Amino acid sequence: MAAHTLRMFLLIVHLPLVGGLAVDTILGDRVQFPETGQCSERGATLQHTLTGGNSQPVARLEDVWKPAAGYKDRMSPNESVVLNRSNINDQGLYRLTCGSEERLIHLNVITSSEKSVPEGQAAGFTFHYFTAGELGRYRVKRNTQLVFELDLSSGSTSQGSGFENRTSVAPHWRSDGDLTLTLQGVKPEDRGDYFLYVLKDRKRGHLQAVRMRVSPALNTPEERNLEQITCTPQPPCKKTPWFTIAIIAALVLVALGVVCVQSICRSNVSSGGGRSPTEEESQPITDPRVPEENGHASLA
Ligand SMILES: *[C@@H]1O[C@H](CO)[C@@H](O)[C@H](O)[C@H]1NC(C)=O
Ligand SMILES: *[C@@H]1O[C@H](CO)[C@@H](O)[C@H](O)[C@H]1NC(C)=O
Ligand SMILES: *[C@@H]1O[C@H](CO)[C@@H](O)[C@H](O)[C@H]1NC(C)=O
Repeated sequence: MAAHTLRMFLLIVHLPLVGGLAVDTILGDRVQFPETGQCSERGATLQHTLTGGNSQPVARLEDVWKPAAGYKDRMSPNESVVLNRSNINDQGLYRLTCGSEERLIHLNVITSSEKSVPEGQAAGFTFHYFTAGELGRYRVKRNTQLVFELDLSSGSTSQGSGFENRTSVAPHWRSDGDLTLTLQGVKPEDRGDYFLYVLKDRKRGHLQAVRMRVSPALNTPEERNLEQITCTPQPPCKKTPWFTIAIIAALVLVALGVVCVQSICRSNVSSGGGRSPTEEESQPITDPRVPEENGHASLA
């Protein structure tokens, strides 16, 4: 319940940094510049402040926002400024001049890693931080929603709504700085962008992003053997499929039948004692079945 109160609804836009808005985007994603849609002053401009104090025009408001040269391939005229694909050079400070008003927007372009986790399985988000001296709050968010928070001084934790009893870090985090978060029982609605960072002096440090997809639940081990779902990663995956086993078994049976017929013929001729060869020959039937069992073990 306490976790509820910690929930935040600030969509992408978060804490003002240097007297402005901060916007997070994952590299390559589309970015909508906040407040550009609310401005209706003709001649309003959005400029990117470059290092050294120079400014580069991004867009200008006429009847709609029009992209400046250099942005035309990534931006269409629109009611708000939307950059279709962010790149790392888009990072930094933007100045929105709307009539007599000015707003600063800090765009943070974050590189992320991707992971795909089958529904029902556990997801691990790797994170290491120097926990021997510097302190602060370790926080994990999904999009803008709190997932997990750990106070590095007191060790107290809280979990976001919907993540109760599903998140944990290894108990030895204080001694080894391993703050890797485990999320148990992944659900389809857990998909999204996870941001992991340490909040200290109102600043985020060691920011890391992971884009998580949730794939369909793994089937039962029997079905997995049939469909070879676990062989998805790369082609060099050689598990004996069922039909191969069936063919081998059939061949063995045929061979057995031949041997059997021959031995029966022979025993007919040499009278009695015809059973033992059949028992010995029956051994190979069980052999092809061994890989199935191994299959189970290796899948676990
Ligand atoms: C930007 O994306 C929108 C929506 O997908 C698309 O309609 C538009 O043509 C794109 N503009 C440019 C310049 O790529
Ligand atoms: C125009 O802006 C809206 C958001 O205000 C966005 O959803 C839409 O995709 C944009 N269209 C283009 C063509 O960029
Ligand atoms: C989490 O675990 C506690 C203690 O076992 C339990 O009281 C609580 O209902 C659980 N919460 C959820 C959302 O499962």
